[in-house]
Amino acid sequence: MVNLGDIFPNFTANSTEGVIKLHSHLGDSWGILFSHPADYTPVCTTELGRVAKLAPEFEKRNIKMMAISCDSVEDHHGWIKDIQAYNNLSGNFPYPIIADPDRDLAVTLGMIDPDEKTASGMPLTCRAVFVIGPDKKLKLSILYPATTGRNFDEVLRVIDSLQLTATQKVATPADWKTGGKCMVVPSISPADAKTMFPQHQVHQVPSGKEYLRTTPQP
Ligand code: BEZ
Repeated sequence: MVNLGDIFPNFTANSTEGVIKLHSHLGDSWGILFSHPADYTPVCTTELGRVAKLAPEFEKRNIKMMAISCDSVEDHHGWIKDIQAYNNLSGNFPYPIIADPDRDLAVTLGMIDPDEKTASGMPLTCRAVFVIGPDKKLKLSILYPATTGRNFDEVLRVIDSLQLTATQKVATPADWKTGGKCMVVPSISPADAKTMFPQHQVHQVPSGKEYLRTTPQP
């Protein structure tokens, strides 16, 4: 199990693009690793296609994409053909799919879903999303059950927030999207807020506490 702020395990694994040693593969980039219960499954087929279509959006954000599924590289290569056919994609598949047939990574990363097993009783992974920063620390983890496909617009929205708040002393409010108003973080004093965010607004509330401070996105 990896917690937010932990250095993400520097695993070595086989993939559809050869052996990946995570930290050197990422270099100075951000990374996203999303897991799948198994190859040749319907929801996963839609997810991998959606991510392939969004590849330019991830590249724009300097994010290296990786998928992982509990099957072999050989199975992954066969499945990619189905993913491309079903999702009207052609050409090179834009990101590697990591193989984890023995569930080594699934166990290390805490991704086993107790409710999902293969017909022969082998455990399957849930749908995990891990975002790793250029410092190799875990910045985000989201777990979905196998029966619920992910919303990758939401994943991109969260990445925008992570990348903004990595360098600016702001937090992003509910349903924020790039360009929307941000909140000045509570640790910034009123005096510093004035100089750091000259356009910020303090919202008056019944408690009289001046903690609701909005600012245009820096
Ligand atoms: C799917 O990807 O469709 C799926 C995989 C495992 C359990 C349920 C659905």
